Amino acid sequence: SSVSPPTSSFSSPPPVSHFIGRKEDIVRAGRVTQLVNGCRDVLVLHHQGQLYAMDKHCYHAGGALQNGDIEEFNGLLCIVCPWHKYKITLAEGEGLYQAVDNPTARPLRTHWRSKGVKQRIHKVAEVNGDVYVTLNDSGEAIESDVYQTEKYRTMFQAV
Ligand code: FES
Repeated sequence: SSVSPPTSSFSSPPPVSHFIGRKEDIVRAGRVTQLVNGCRDVLVLHHQGQLYAMDKHCYHAGGALQNGDIEEFNGLLCIVCPWHKYKITLAEGEGLYQAVDNPTARPLRTHWRSKGVKQRIHKVAEVNGDVYVTLNDSGEAIESDVYQTEKYRTMFQAV
């Protein structure tokens, strides 16, 4: 189901928010997945008092992010894809990788670096205990878009 935020004086149509569920249910479950607007598989997470929403299928190969662990890297909360352990920041959808500054130094010192935004993050908001997602429809391509076609959604339905 959908609701529109109050109309404003802007000429472009207001973005549409999609009802996901009651916050208490999402907090209890920790994470829920939903096909939003009939076109987007979205994962909504509740972690340490915060709600997050992102594409459900991992940008790398379509992994089931709803089954990933949440861990912190460089002070950034990430979901760790259960398929090949890619790390994706919850707030921005950045892919992180481990970089080595000097491969000859011992001990090896590694750092987590960003590959840039790889996973599409959506806006999530709570209104009177109801949680809504507004799809991020920015025109720029983001790698996780690849797994949001009808073909992949059908293929991944079972996972
Ligand atoms: Fe997510 Fe490969 S599919 S890490």
